[in-house]
Amino acid sequence: TFHLVLAGGRTPQALYRELAKRHAGDAHWHIWYGDERCLPVDDPARNSQMAEMAWLGSSAIPLRQRCAIPAEMGPTVAAERYGDLLAGNTEFDLVLLGLGEDGHTASLFPGHIGQGTEVIAVYDAPKPPPERVSLSASRLSRSRRVWFIVTGVDKRGAIARWKRGERLPVTGVSGACETTVWLDQAAHPRDPGLHNQSQD
Ligand code: 6PG
Repeated sequence: TFHLVLAGGRTPQALYRELAKRHAGDAHWHIWYGDERCLPVDDPARNSQMAEMAWLGSSAIPLRQRCAIPAEMGPTVAAERYGDLLAGNTEFDLVLLGLGEDGHTASLFPGHIGQGTEVIAVYDAPKPPPERVSLSASRLSRSRRVWFIVTGVDKRGAIARWKRGERLPVTGVSGACETTVWLDQAAHPRDPGLHNQSQD
C-alpha cells in the first residue's frame, strides 16, 4: 500500500493535474489530507474538492481509499472523526505540504496552533476560512517522507526565515527518512550579496 497525504491551497493544483495526465494512482494508493477548510462538502474552495477535480476523480484510486476530512461537521467533530479514521494507520509513506507567507503549513498557523495531538480543531485561522481541521506537526511527521512544494516570489521571505532557523510551524514537520523542499526559482531566496550565485 501507499499512503499519501495531500496538500491544499493553490500551489499543488498544477502537480495534481500532471499526476492526472500520467494516470497516477491505483488500488494500492490511500489518500489522506493534511488539512481541510470547514466549508460545505461540494465547495470548490475545499482542499479535497480541488484534489478530486484536478486528479483523483479521474484516477484509478478507489473512492473508499480517498479519505477526505469531514470538515463540514465543524472543527471539533471533524477532528475527532478524522482521528478515528487515522487510528489504524501507523505511518504515512509521503506527506505533501505547502508553505504560507507567514511560515504556516497545513492549517498550523504561527500563534494559532489549536488543541489536539493528532488532529487539531482550528477556530481562528488568519487565512480564511477561520475554521479548519489540521493534522498536527507530530502526526504529519509520522511519515517516511515529507515534501514541501513552494512556488512564487511571495514565499521567498518564509523560505529565508526558515533557512535562518527561525521557529515557525513549518519547522516542526520532518519525515523519518527524508524531508525535501521543492522550490521554483521565484521562491528561492537569493542573497543579493552573492553576485555569482549559480542560477540553480
Ligand atoms: C490551505 C493549505 C495551506 C496552503 C498554504 C499555501 O488550506 O490553504 O492547507 O496550508 O498550503 O497556505 O497556499 P498556496 O499554495 O495557495 O500559496
